[in-house]
Amino acid sequence: MARVFDDLELGYVKEVLTSGRLGWQTGGMVTRFEGAFARLVGSRFAIARNSAMTALAQAVAVSGAGTGFEVICDPIVHFGGLAALWFNAVPRFVDVRRDTYLLDPEAVRANITPLTKALVVTNLWGLCAELDELRRICDEHGLFMIEDCAHNMGSCWKGQHAGTYGDLGAFSFQQGKHLPTGDGGMLTTDREDLYSKIYGEWAFSGESPQFMTLNFRMNEVTAAVGLGQVQRVMGYVEQYTRNLHRLNEAIGGCAWLGQRHVPSDARQAGYVWACTWEGDRYGLSLDRFKQVCNEIGLKINSGFAQLNAPAYHFDIFKGSTAYGEPDCPVRCPFYIAKSGYRYHEGMCPVAEDIIPRFLRLGLVQVSDEEGSRRAAMLQEAIHRMER
Ligand SMILES: Cc1ncc(COP(=O)(O)O)c(C=O)c1O
Repeated sequence: MARVFDDLELGYVKEVLTSGRLGWQTGGMVTRFEGAFARLVGSRFAIARNSAMTALAQAVAVSGAGTGFEVICDPIVHFGGLAALWFNAVPRFVDVRRDTYLLDPEAVRANITPLTKALVVTNLWGLCAELDELRRICDEHGLFMIEDCAHNMGSCWKGQHAGTYGDLGAFSFQQGKHLPTGDGGMLTTDREDLYSKIYGEWAFSGESPQFMTLNFRMNEVTAAVGLGQVQRVMGYVEQYTRNLHRLNEAIGGCAWLGQRHVPSDARQAGYVWACTWEGDRYGLSLDRFKQVCNEIGLKINSGFAQLNAPAYHFDIFKGSTAYGEPDCPVRCPFYIAKSGYRYHEGMCPVAEDIIPRFLRLGLVQVSDEEGSRRAAMLQEAIHRMER
């Protein structure tokens, strides 16, 4: 489904331009967008930001994690790790479950150290991790819980929307996400203290911000587009989710394509469809499968990101090059509390195994007709491999 931007968004944008007040202000368009977003996901507060990345970084900042502390993150995407590094905390990558590709609560427990301050859990590709269990772990150990919900409009765990289990949830409105404003993001929280603290970032005319941060506010024009899109987004999500189910059905019964497990407590929202290549266990060649897909006209993505490996293989983590000085912050000689943490091969064996096995198709902006066509092509590719 193509996104719709019409008189609704134009009307809100016109309101902003006519008012002549384009910057954030109490009671303005940003506040209206925040209110509508909070109602949609069921959080007490929403705080509009200029991207999910800045939202995540600010979440780490208010968590108290920083110099000398560790933040537990997942290894498939790197955003949580980057946010931790930005505030000089050490990202500690923890393994995922093989069937859901999501953070494994047992692995989280096993990696908590006296330096652990926060957890960033990514609800990857429209599916929530075991958020109640992760919440329990955070409560038991006094950890601040941050949910990366960049892929999660409409996805729930035990009937509760993504972004409502963490102390903070971070959503993305970048062009490729469910709710597009060009760029933008939203923090969600039930904690009034965090809402006030984050809006206390304001650093002007001698006021001291309440914590170390920069200004990451959203402007009124972006919020005007968001206020229109927030009324449409669940329609988009339904569309993408129908195609997700079509693709899952297409591989049903195929032993050598591993279907992603959706726990009964989860409601997955269509964002990216993914399965794992298990053909090597059946004497089949992945290159041959990709060639067959190509011949049929199905553009399937394999693996993930350029490295095709967990995020800790990025130089910025492995080489500790974030601040130009080698080893900062991971083994910085100036820190009193030294993490001593080392990024190494074999650290997250499940993530290392499954990332090169991923086969993925994007679902955003794919029509029902195109989704059905792709599902039929996927089935045809399976038949050709088995012929
Ligand atoms: C899981 C995840 N988190 C965070 C981000 C960052 O979002 P933004 O582009 O809004 O900063 C992305 C962007 O693709 C993402 O996929």
